[in-house]
Amino acid sequence: MPLNFLAAPQTQMTERLLIRRPRIEDAEQVFSRYASDAAVTRYLGWPTHIDVADTRKFLLLAQEHWERKGIGPLLVFDRQDEQLLGGTGLELEDNNTAATGYVFARSAWGKGYATETMQALLGTARQLRLACVYALCHPDHEPSIRVLEKCGFHQAALLQSETEFPNLAPGVKSDVKRFEIQF
Ligand SMILES: CC(C)(COP(=O)(O)OP(=O)(O)OC[C@H]1O[C@@H](n2cnc3c(N)ncnc32)[C@H](O)[C@@H]1OP(=O)(O)O)[C@@H](O)C(=O)NCCC(=O)NCCS
Repeated sequence: MPLNFLAAPQTQMTERLLIRRPRIEDAEQVFSRYASDAAVTRYLGWPTHIDVADTRKFLLLAQEHWERKGIGPLLVFDRQDEQLLGGTGLELEDNNTAATGYVFARSAWGKGYATETMQALLGTARQLRLACVYALCHPDHEPSIRVLEKCGFHQAALLQSETEFPNLAPGVKSDVKRFEIQF
């Protein structure tokens, strides 16, 4: 874990959500709820999962990130029935800066879950005394831009030919908007 870094909480509750560190046994659910759905992964930086083995690989990397850095990917569940709704996380770049993002199953869109999740993560970022959290977003992805703006992020840059969106344009570096929030 980086020096002077307080470990992030492994479980967190919001009004409607339970947010926790993933386990390898979550693979089937993550795969079937959202990681294998091409409509969900359209604007994401990772390819749609074809097989549950792809999801297990991701969860192993998540576990490694948590073990090395005391922070990392998280899963989001409905508090009432514990149904898996989506994923999020804070990826530590240095002691001051973390990258974030979110992905929700299609049936969970439009209910304010991304906003509620991001607000909880920003609370964690403050507790950890991070100076900056950022998110990268495709310029056409209006719902995601709306979530970031509602949560207090501002557009810091439009980066030209910067990021591959493998489900939109494989092998091509597309422009991407960088949104930041400073504490
Ligand atoms: C993007 C995503 C995370 C949004 O999650 P969500 O839980 O539906 O988001 P919320 O309900 O908290 O907020 C969505 C906001 O976008 C608005 N919105 C929805 N479609 C919109 C559109 N086409 N144009 C502009 N705003 C739009 C909603 O009205 C809402 O704003 P409001 O509260 O002011 O009405 C979700 O659609 C998703 O998981 N998509 C697939 C994965 C993904 O693309 N992740 C982001 C990568 S950058």
